Amino acid sequence: MGTKRNTWKSVILILSCYKVKCSLEESEKQVLKQGSFQRLCLSDVSNSSSTQAIEDLSISFGGSKLYAFTLEELREATSSFSWSNMLGEGGFGPVYKGFVDDKLRPGLKAQTVAVKRLDLDGLQGHREWLAEIIFLGQLRHPHLVKLIGYCYEDENRLLMYEYMPRGSLENQLFRRYSAAMPWSTRMKIALGAAKGLAFLHEADKPVIYRDLKASNILLDSDFTAKLSDFGLAKDGPEGEDTYVTTRIMGTQGYAAPEYIMTGHLTTKSDVYSYGVVLLELLTGRRVVDKSRSNGGKSLVEWARPLLRDPKIVYSIIDCRLEGQFPMKGAMKVAMLAFKCLSPHPNARPTMSDVVKVLEPLQDFDDVFIGPFVYVAVSENGNKHKI
Ligand SMILES: Nc1ncnc2c1ncn2[C@@H]1O[C@H](COP(=O)(O)OP(=O)(O)OP(=O)(O)O)[C@@H](O)[C@H]1O
Ligand SMILES: [Mg+2]
Repeated sequence: MGTKRNTWKSVILILSCYKVKCSLEESEKQVLKQGSFQRLCLSDVSNSSSTQAIEDLSISFGGSKLYAFTLEELREATSSFSWSNMLGEGGFGPVYKGFVDDKLRPGLKAQTVAVKRLDLDGLQGHREWLAEIIFLGQLRHPHLVKLIGYCYEDENRLLMYEYMPRGSLENQLFRRYSAAMPWSTRMKIALGAAKGLAFLHEADKPVIYRDLKASNILLDSDFTAKLSDFGLAKDGPEGEDTYVTTRIMGTQGYAAPEYIMTGHLTTKSDVYSYGVVLLELLTGRRVVDKSRSNGGKSLVEWARPLLRDPKIVYSIIDCRLEGQFPMKGAMKVAMLAFKCLSPHPNARPTMSDVVKVLEPLQDFDDVFIGPFVYVAVSENGNKHKI
């Protein structure tokens, strides 16, 4: 179960829970005027001057069906938000496992779900909840977690998602007393997350995800990776602009250096965060680990210079893999992480470049190749295994 972590988001985020500013009629008119479905931007909704209720927001979302639930219905689905159903807790609030079927709503598929409830005493609020609905309600992709519905009742804000049986990458990768995650699984997750980001970056109206980290990559039963948590997502720059300027938010260790320095956000900021996740997958280490000695506190500072040195790179790959990884493949992934973590945004690859590099590296079958054996040649020419 996740604990509340001290993220910048929770420190810097001082967003007020302002009254909903959304006109459904306005949004609908806009969609109808455009003839075919076009994605509604967050600003279209949050800048609207009307204060009409949001209850039926889903109907303005073209083909995707979103359910507007009552609090009572979500109570029913989660056994009254019982402790035993709690899956974890992040900055938004607690997350509960639940179950829904067509007895709750006609047509609703029988399925296990995850229900996220806004902590009314927390630092996140209506804005993150709305961003989640605006982005995930409209964007559908095999590598984005599916939003099923939401609840807006008095000050209550909740979200219902498809249930991801293996929880987050953070839980799986850094779990203490379990077998190490095999190389092939790591590569599958790396590719899935890359495809999810590439989809966002290449959409008609590009989206900058802004909060890529191991805890926001959720895993299906077969380790298919899906991006979750769109509370910080932003619409990409429009027209001549090459970046969007925002208040600096994100999670310590994952945010790109130029974004921290200037507040200028581009899709390349996501590529940097992706590089951090790739490094975590390679090394099995957390990006920020307070338990490590001073030199090792920042994973990126410590590991980046080693990533392009073929003689050293193997020494930083997760030792729990016990050598069960392909040498050449690992070298390519290390080089990819090196490029994603470049301090110069333009030197970073695009996410589709990343997908292209990772796709051919998927077929390693984790056959045990044994411990590393070094053959030393002694002065008399005899070979000794060490
Ligand atoms: N759809 C889901 N299916 C299964 N488990 C989930 C789902 N969504 C969230 N969880 C669980 O709940 C935990 C908390 O998730 P949440 O996204 O609220 O916070 P976080 O990502 O850990 O932190 P932060 O607030 O910094 O993003 C996750 O780590 C995961 O274990
Ligand atoms: Mg999260």
